[in-house]
Amino acid sequence: MKETDLIIIGAGPGGYKAAAYAAKHGLKVVIFEGAEVGGTCLNVGCIPTKTYVHSGSFTEARERMTQVVPQLRSGVESILSHPNISLVREKGVFVDANTVGDYTAKNIIIATGSTSKLIPVPGIDSPEVVDSTGLLNLETLPKRLCIIGAGVIGMEFASVFNRFGSEVTVIEFLKECLPALDSDIAKRLRKQMEKAGITFNMSSGVKAIVSEASPSGKRTKVLFEQKGKELSVEADVILVATGRKPNTEGLNLEAAGITLAPNGTIPVDENFRILPNSPLKGEDTSQKVSPLRGDLERSVFAIGDVNGRQMLAHAAEVQGIHVVNRILGIEDNIRFEVMPAAIFTNPEAACVGPSEDQLKEAGTPFECHKSFYRANGKALAMGETEGMVKLCCEPKEGRLLSAHIFGAHAADLVQEVTAYITLGATLRQLRETVHIHPTLSEVLIEVN
Ligand code: NAI
Repeated sequence: MKETDLIIIGAGPGGYKAAAYAAKHGLKVVIFEGAEVGGTCLNVGCIPTKTYVHSGSFTEARERMTQVVPQLRSGVESILSHPNISLVREKGVFVDANTVGDYTAKNIIIATGSTSKLIPVPGIDSPEVVDSTGLLNLETLPKRLCIIGAGVIGMEFASVFNRFGSEVTVIEFLKECLPALDSDIAKRLRKQMEKAGITFNMSSGVKAIVSEASPSGKRTKVLFEQKGKELSVEADVILVATGRKPNTEGLNLEAAGITLAPNGTIPVDENFRILPNSPLKGEDTSQKVSPLRGDLERSVFAIGDVNGRQMLAHAAEVQGIHVVNRILGIEDNIRFEVMPAAIFTNPEAACVGPSEDQLKEAGTPFECHKSFYRANGKALAMGETEGMVKLCCEPKEGRLLSAHIFGAHAADLVQEVTAYITLGATLRQLRETVHIHPTLSEVLIEVN
């Protein structure tokens, strides 16, 4: 058995960033990866989809994807070639709470990510049905694309494939798309996408996927129910984008004494350490909060999608940094509740902090301020007049609580507000910050 300081399972954004950070701080790291380094984000997620978003045609998108992805992957490989890091190109399997494969360490981080969750309806195994990875692997543009689920993945692909020329129909269970987004913003975004030619079937439950032979070849239909009516849509390709599930299979978690939560995630405490209610073998469970280094006999942590907290690449990254800080005994002030997110549709949408509806539900005193892109000089000059900003703050232009934006460069604008919220700044202080003219960022200070 070879001993090391830290074992990491999974070389996605959570795992490889944690490895690099730990190595830089002098820890000896062993990182297990059974597939390509870079995880979902780099190989079949954020990065390939962004090449689609920024390409003019399907062919160009595929070509750029095959250049960009290997380039970034070799960047990650070079990061992992640090003398303090050993990359083991196999799946990490627990032998006991301190041992993975041939290595043993006091601290272990599980960063194995997630995979698409398919819905249990008849016909889901039809060859026409793909998940996001399958859609990115298509070599020809589908004439008719049906998307099940109007969450982040469904909306991003609906937007991109509509622009490439596919006829796109979306079927969504809920009344509105993007449940995590402010409902007002989500509705406006959907209307924009409808204007671009995408058909949305909201409040609709998929019943089955059926194929039948016809004189013109095989025809595949998605059958769904909408307010008591049985409807159907024909499609050449069907994308299932109904959420993702944690990757825990094959880890042999039982050997480490780790129990999954009923939803399949690995339960963790506020420091991403495996929760006391799923104790490590023989552990004293009376301790609620994980202690700092020195008091720790041994610890297993879970970061990123596998703990189900915030299924975002950048969330996995900061969680990993925080865990390494805990191991090193370094205090940090990362505010995990201030977690920005973006949806790369056309137009883009992004948010940080609670929506107006969530603030109302929680009974938080707040005021809401809005502005529109059409009144912004730069937006007009760019021809990007569709967009809206919603800032929520404590009463009397007090501490900023959230920003929900749709329109060009929404993610960059939300990033600015994220900095203000993280530092506890007020709306008044945001207004008093000089903004370059003419820029889109002026929409933030133009709120009513
Ligand atoms: P999601 O949870 O965002 O959305 C799934 C949608 O499918 C929901 O609106 C749900 O109501 C709907 N749905 C579920 N079952 C259904 C059914 N039987 N019929 C019709 N609709 C149904 O999940 P999604 O889009 O698959 O994304 C997975 C994760 O990946 C999310 O946590 C997301 O945040 C993350 N992600 C983030 C991106 C970003 O930050 N830009 C990009 C892509 C994914």
